[in-house]
Amino acid sequence: MANPTFSLPARGATPELKLARKAPKSTDAIVLPLLLGEEGPELPASPLLDDAALRDVLNSLSAVGATGKVCEVTRVPAPAGVTAASVIAVGLGDPEELTDETLRRAAGTVARSLSGLKTVATSLGVFGLAAAVEGIALGAYSYRGIRGESEENNTPAGKVVFVSETKADAEVFDIARITAEAVIFARDLVNTPSSHLYPESYAGILSAEAEAAGLEIEVLNEKALAKQGYGGILAVGQGSARAPRLVRLTWSPKKSKKTVALVGKGITFDTGGISIKPAANMENMVSDMGGSAAVAATVFAAAKLNLPVKVTATMPLAENMPDGLALRPGDVITHYGGITSEIINTDAEGRLVLADALVRASEDNPDYLIETATLTGAQMVALGVRTAGVMGSEELRDRVAATGRNVGEPAWAMPLLEEQEDELKSPVADIRNAHPNRWGGMEFAALYLSRFVGEGIEWAHVDIAGPSYNTSGVHGYTPKRATGVPVRTFLALLAEIAAED
Ligand code: BES
Ligand code: ZN
Ligand code: ZN
Repeated sequence: MANPTFSLPARGATPELKLARKAPKSTDAIVLPLLLGEEGPELPASPLLDDAALRDVLNSLSAVGATGKVCEVTRVPAPAGVTAASVIAVGLGDPEELTDETLRRAAGTVARSLSGLKTVATSLGVFGLAAAVEGIALGAYSYRGIRGESEENNTPAGKVVFVSETKADAEVFDIARITAEAVIFARDLVNTPSSHLYPESYAGILSAEAEAAGLEIEVLNEKALAKQGYGGILAVGQGSARAPRLVRLTWSPKKSKKTVALVGKGITFDTGGISIKPAANMENMVSDMGGSAAVAATVFAAAKLNLPVKVTATMPLAENMPDGLALRPGDVITHYGGITSEIINTDAEGRLVLADALVRASEDNPDYLIETATLTGAQMVALGVRTAGVMGSEELRDRVAATGRNVGEPAWAMPLLEEQEDELKSPVADIRNAHPNRWGGMEFAALYLSRFVGEGIEWAHVDIAGPSYNTSGVHGYTPKRATGVPVRTFLALLAEIAAED
């Protein structure tokens, strides 16, 4: 039988993004930056309106109390002679303190007020085109899932035109657009319910995308996994009727000096298995494949950006379920490469599938091995829900964390703990998958993973349990549910590594 074809059942809505030298003839709205000046709000010069029109707009904005403080959105009627229904101003705060992150957040905030508008023109790019494009695209994203036809859809702006008078902006615009599209692809994968995204369908979706992009992809099914000894992936998958997969996606440019191995956790649903999770909020475990989504999206974007660095994403995909064949506490499994693990808790499943994937990724002897996973609840206890924990070899760990902070994906270096070496020991296997106390759960998981990284390879582990999935309120350019973290960190790192000697 031919392989069935798979595609995403629904995608989040986002506006089309355009770059133009001049304002479009007619628009539904014009979006302008508003600054918090010492003597009230200030409208900077804009390629969209002449000085007289700007003065009119500023008067209207002042009349309704706009101040220009960060993320304040104010809508006023367009002045006479301007072919737009309204002008929407978004505050950027004190110009002396303006950063890319403030601009992204303000752009994201105003993007959420553009719902239903067909064409919008903006000069927000005057303060940083890349940040404005990313902020608008990521803030406007809205995922409504799978609905009956009678349900009205939330339609965001059809098209946003970034008006910039400089020619050099075309490349900056393209990089920002491709980056935002990658984040959005990762969000779409993570937002897809596990009824529709399971190892086989997920591998199928990635294969279809790889074929369309002309990228190399390898998919190991359960038979191939068994033949090659992927005991960790098989163990986690054995309690589900939906068999696991291992997917490897490669961007191999003609010119490349460095190779980067990315690895991402792909648990398409995590019930906990026999060590079952409580019912409350378990639906959020649709997001337990966020690491794999981020690394897949990164490879597709590296190819679109034509980055001169070879990148392979290794993604172990499995569904963690508690059926009659499921893995039990007390079982001993043999990972790819031969290390054995005693299972203490079947809910510590991410490290079991990642162990196999790390050994496989290490076989390619990459210059850098960077892995990311929604690995531990302890990450959120330690760092909160917006800041990823980064562990691994010191130099790469610190570099990944700093890059994350630079691009607006907060990340913080955390140590591997010497005292936990003993806690890794098992009476019946080489190591065990959980330790007997509540302390340093994120660090213990990283120490466990470190045993599977090839000798001498620089590696980093990024725990994104909190930052990859937003279960609290919308903020800036971060919607509810999938955030697409850490795609922008990884793309920034790849761009840097591509420029290394
Ligand atoms: N997928 C979870 C971690 C998680 C929890 C991600 C909440 C996002 C939100 C992971 O597989 C897990 O269950 N980890 C356990 C490990 C423990 C049993 C050692 C945890 O953190 O409780
Ligand atoms: Zn788990
Ligand atoms: Zn998990």
